[in-house]
Amino acid sequence: MEKRCCRDVLVVGGTSEMALAVLQALPDLRRVLLIGRDRLRLEAARRNLAGGCGSAGPEISILEVGSPEPYRIREICGSLPWQPDLAVIAQGMLTVPPGDGGLPEMIRVNLTEPCLWISVLAEIFRDREMRLCVISSVAGDRGRGSNYAYGMTKAGLSAFTEGLASRLAREGSPLGITLVKPGLVDTVMIRQRRDRRLICPCSRAGRIIARGVLRGRGTVYVPWWWAVPGILLRLVPRGILSRIPW
Ligand SMILES: NC(=O)c1ccc[n+]([C@@H]2O[C@H](COP(=O)([O-])OP(=O)(O)OC[C@H]3O[C@@H](n4cnc5c(N)ncnc54)[C@H](OP(=O)(O)O)[C@@H]3O)[C@@H](O)[C@H]2O)c1
Repeated sequence: MEKRCCRDVLVVGGTSEMALAVLQALPDLRRVLLIGRDRLRLEAARRNLAGGCGSAGPEISILEVGSPEPYRIREICGSLPWQPDLAVIAQGMLTVPPGDGGLPEMIRVNLTEPCLWISVLAEIFRDREMRLCVISSVAGDRGRGSNYAYGMTKAGLSAFTEGLASRLAREGSPLGITLVKPGLVDTVMIRQRRDRRLICPCSRAGRIIARGVLRGRGTVYVPWWWAVPGILLRLVPRGILSRIPW
């Protein structure tokens, strides 16, 4: 049964098109806090969201955090203006930036910071009826020749999220976690891609994720059929996998 749980929502990666589509698909939004690295883009996201929600839309605030140190993430989570009942973790980058610092940068953006936000939020709100929605990727289900650095960060994020969700459930915490594994979703992240097959419209992805969150699902593939290659590919031996050009 769907719960009307998600009224006060914070988003890490507050400019993410997918996260904004999730917010637009939630029926009872009351307050939103968009957290991100850049004030101008956050303001644009706030305008887009307000425009998409109509006149009776939620109260939307923004918080620019740059690249926060771990202590700063704890400070922010400990002094939120209101207690969230949903946190969406959507920050991520697809391509390794050039140079020796590129891989550490991708690991920071896709893995280290999301894991810090998730673990601090889970620690502070572990006794609260709340949900974390963590956007990982099917790319983390198996290492591929074409995007193994991105896949590595998402595999780590998925494993961290699944493990934490299991621990919280075992400890009887009311805080639940939905791990989201999109395939290809039409956002700015993949807009340069020439092959447009298999791409899910962003608004549809938002609806699928919102429904999964409201129903308290543990894992949500976007769309659902990405679960089939996701699960089957885990069973294929590496010798065969390395001959597939993907
Ligand atoms: N679109 C897809 O096909 C797809 C598929 C699987 C998984 N995903 C995952 O879905 C999540 C949301 O992505 P999206 O599709 O909505 O793309 P998006 O609109 O580009 O959102 C990406 C978010 O990550 C933030 N970000 C990017 N680089 C950053 C950096 N160096 N430091 C801090 N923040 C940074 C962006 O902030 P700025 O606006 O400031 O850049 C933005 O808020 C990501 O975790 C992505 O990996 C996407």
